[in-house]
Amino acid sequence: MADRLITRRRTLHLGLAALAGMSAISSHHLAKSEPLSDFTVSSNTPLKERAAAIGLIYGAAIRHDHLAKDAQLASSVIQECGILVPEWGLKWSTPDKPLRPSPDSFDFRAADQSLEFAVANGLLFRGHTLVWHESLPDWFSKIVNRQNAREFLAQHIQTVVGRYAGKVHSWDVVNEAIEPADGRSDGLRSSPWLELLGSDYIDLAFRMAHQAEEKALLVYNDYGLDYDTDEAEAKRAAVLQLLRHLKSLGTPIHALGIQAHLSGSETRFNPQKLQEFLRNIASLGLKIIISELDVTDKNLTIQVHLRDQIIAKVYEDYLSAVLMEPAVIAVITWGLSDRYTWLSEFQPRSDSASVRPLPIDSLFQRKLAWNAIARAFDRASIRPLT
Ligand code: G3I
Repeated sequence: MADRLITRRRTLHLGLAALAGMSAISSHHLAKSEPLSDFTVSSNTPLKERAAAIGLIYGAAIRHDHLAKDAQLASSVIQECGILVPEWGLKWSTPDKPLRPSPDSFDFRAADQSLEFAVANGLLFRGHTLVWHESLPDWFSKIVNRQNAREFLAQHIQTVVGRYAGKVHSWDVVNEAIEPADGRSDGLRSSPWLELLGSDYIDLAFRMAHQAEEKALLVYNDYGLDYDTDEAEAKRAAVLQLLRHLKSLGTPIHALGIQAHLSGSETRFNPQKLQEFLRNIASLGLKIIISELDVTDKNLTIQVHLRDQIIAKVYEDYLSAVLMEPAVIAVITWGLSDRYTWLSEFQPRSDSASVRPLPIDSLFQRKLAWNAIARAFDRASIRPLT
């Protein structure tokens, strides 16, 4: 048994190194050897139920227009998800029914559509995002200035958060405010909000959100926190510095959202380093939400079954590591089916093959990635009740 295990493990490492690094070993050769891993699962129990069994929430970010037009997507979301995040509807501006069509108007149709779907199907609802440097409407830079920015921020948060008060599990109050490469000692990104309101804009936004909504968890959300690289290390340090600062101010902040946009070809993953970061976050009394999980297969072999195995292993290794931290209360994938992923457009493969970053394929069949997530949930410990 031990020999077989070593062979399997060796095959796995060889396979992963070869495929991830696109080395000389022919993937055809590997295809003939035993599978890298079979990702066996114990049952067909949906992910939302496997998550709930350990006190975790699982769900996905889905566009309202996709949910409305694709019944297969809708039924897959209902089957697998315990929480829904509108991928577009609660940003200031997106292509379909933008929330802020003009400086003095709001269009809630997209967000209402998503909330109605969630309520009708017993899903929790998550708000994304109130303050971000992207997806600002064209009028924003023409109209908002240092004199009126605070009023625009207050009106937006009070109106939007107030409308959904009591119906939202958690709000991404501020998104992606840290960028160490911008060279500030506080690590803040040079964003329109920083220019307009100064570095207090983050504390201000959380206080405004808390005033409008006593119940929802108020979250700071960011990306690039996952790997054992200099950039990620710098970003983790800067995010921790920000969160410690906010806690010292008494800011009403309850959780960190770790987006977790991962890569199948990134091999610099150090679970212990990530777990230390999570412990530091939790020691501030904050919960943790894995808020936008997906795994790009952009640089991997074109062979689908090998690609799927590598992607599945990333899901299993990452979730096994982060779920060791009891403060992790939710795992949300950025999309559910490969048929609708932002990566098709934003990180397409050079060989033009369809990308396969998510747990469900484009024909709504569960993939090895689904198995991997299920296995990680099954093995994780029950979250403490809070
Ligand atoms: O499809 C239209 C096209 O017809 C039009 O010509 C073009 C001109 O603007 O827009 C196209 O729509 C774009 C859409 O993606 C297509 O999928 C929108 O502009 C673009 O804003 C939108 O990007 C979204 C992006 O956030 C910015 O809001 C993505 O859908 C969405 O997945 C992405 O999600 C972000 C999270 O909010 C924050 N974390 C990172 C994550 C991925 O970037």
